[in-house]
Amino acid sequence: MCGIVGYIGKRNAVPIVMEGLKRLEYRGYDSCGIAVLHDNQMDVEKIAGKVDDLQSRLAQAHWASEIAIGHTRWATHGEPDQKNAHPQVSMSGDIAVVHNGIIENFLPLKRELQNNGYNFSSDTDSEVIAALISTAYAGNLEAAVQEALSRIIGAYGIAVLSTREPGKIVCARYGAPLIMGLGKEEFFVASDVAAILAHTKDVIYLDNGEIGILTADGYETLTRKNESISKEVHRVSFDLAAIERGGFEHFMLKEIFEQPQTIYDAMRGRLLPQDGNARLGGIADDIGTILHADQRYFTACGTSWHAALIGEMMFEQFAHLPAEVEYASEFRYREPLVDKRSVIFAISQSGETADTLAAIQEAKSHGATALGICNVVGSSIARETKAGIYIHAGPEIGVASTKAFTSQVTVLTLLTLRLARMMGMSEEQGLEIVESLQKLPEQVEWILNQADRIAKIAQVYAKARNFLYLGRGVNFPVALEGALKLKEISYIHAEGYPAAEMKHGPIALIDEDMPVVFLAPKDKTYDKILSNIQEVKARKGRVIVVATEGDKEIADLADHVIYVPAALAFTAPILNVIPLQLLAYYVAVERGCNVDQPRNLAKSVTVE
Ligand code: F6R
Repeated sequence: MCGIVGYIGKRNAVPIVMEGLKRLEYRGYDSCGIAVLHDNQMDVEKIAGKVDDLQSRLAQAHWASEIAIGHTRWATHGEPDQKNAHPQVSMSGDIAVVHNGIIENFLPLKRELQNNGYNFSSDTDSEVIAALISTAYAGNLEAAVQEALSRIIGAYGIAVLSTREPGKIVCARYGAPLIMGLGKEEFFVASDVAAILAHTKDVIYLDNGEIGILTADGYETLTRKNESISKEVHRVSFDLAAIERGGFEHFMLKEIFEQPQTIYDAMRGRLLPQDGNARLGGIADDIGTILHADQRYFTACGTSWHAALIGEMMFEQFAHLPAEVEYASEFRYREPLVDKRSVIFAISQSGETADTLAAIQEAKSHGATALGICNVVGSSIARETKAGIYIHAGPEIGVASTKAFTSQVTVLTLLTLRLARMMGMSEEQGLEIVESLQKLPEQVEWILNQADRIAKIAQVYAKARNFLYLGRGVNFPVALEGALKLKEISYIHAEGYPAAEMKHGPIALIDEDMPVVFLAPKDKTYDKILSNIQEVKARKGRVIVVATEGDKEIADLADHVIYVPAALAFTAPILNVIPLQLLAYYVAVERGCNVDQPRNLAKSVTVE
């Protein structure tokens, strides 16, 4: 979704901010803009369209300034056109604001300002912030920002420039992520570390209600009550290479191919191979609470919700601990039976998903223990939860989540193993699971070696208009995930179903134009899945099967088979999803789709 980047220092801020905006493109956006201060004058350029187009405009203008803020906007209030793009500038031109988030009470504020003679020039909620700061200004920018923010209900990450104090960027955060980057005689503000990583790895995470003031000589952070506070400086653990494509045509493909390493990283230091167990330091103090809870919930959205479904099944099957999975967006409104004896696991790659954050807040308001399973270190969800487990997948730039999913499931497997051993799983079974986890990176590599073949299969089906994905048990969420991957990047309609449910409706759709992807590993439901395949073939459906290596029988039935190594139920979903990620990727490429930035989608969904 929207992205913010700002710079103040001794270098020309324009190329730095533009490069930062380029790095934020992956979050999804429809318009962009930049404001600079030059000789106490505010220059603003903004467009509906891509950062490259903005860049071309600026190249003609030859702007140079030591202070600038920029923005990529994903439209919420008002069309994605030029007037609604950010920065939003106050009526008198003294204030420019870039804003991520949503101001819920913008309409009454707007009306009040209009009644006092203020003219608005956009449809955005964000312009209200510029207006409030401008009208509150009485000689001190940060005081005016504080005053304006005290009137606002909603979520914001903002950066503000003023012609009245041209050597300063003021930034603030409530509910939308914002970091300050510290360089040598230069300072940055950004909504995402990717925007500034080329310049500094030292960052401060602002907390809700805090304000940052950046000048070329230093920075200060203030609390909501205007008290100066000293904030911890964090060193970002990954390098620039992690957010670059590194020779791959798309970030998504790079991230699919990173999975042998990211799965390994999710387990690193956590497996206890001698004991057939796992150690999870982040939640060590909460393991008893999880074990003895009256209710255990997983909550998440999208792909992370699919990981949650697998977590639920593993909890029940192996640790004999009941759990429930709820869409974060539904959890909050369905008045769940949550109290202080409940544990809620929030699963999120970005750690910024607004619905998931809201679900955590709802659970916490009833006294529940909220734990996080997140990728982004220092993210809002990581900070809102009592404790948690990082999945250590590294930055995920492709909008379609791939490596985060397999790392989430890996971490859920470790958690299940830990709980199951406490619930009486034998050491022998624990050892078997540890062994199968250790094999995963190599097995994933083996599947990835079939990428060229999968690309050829994708060519055959790239023109299909609908796909069905079928699986059973832990492979049902994998089917859902395969369908989601395909629909979001190729715009082909796809649905996932438990295989046996096919007969209860979806079978009506099957004809020679309908590809059906079956997950058919050699497990206890194998024979039943074979019957389902027969049923599809009998109706002339075309069948692609993900099957266990060496299964010859299935090759006679299917149009195409993609083999995966034999695996325990514990690790099967991690392996089985890889061919589906590749299939979706190659179908989208074949159709000429923008794989890394699919239409209408945003990498982190920070609005409810
Ligand atoms: C799908 C995808 C989305 C996210 C969802 C939750 O490929 O990326 O469905 O999984 O928006 O995002 P996080 O995990 O960041 O909370």
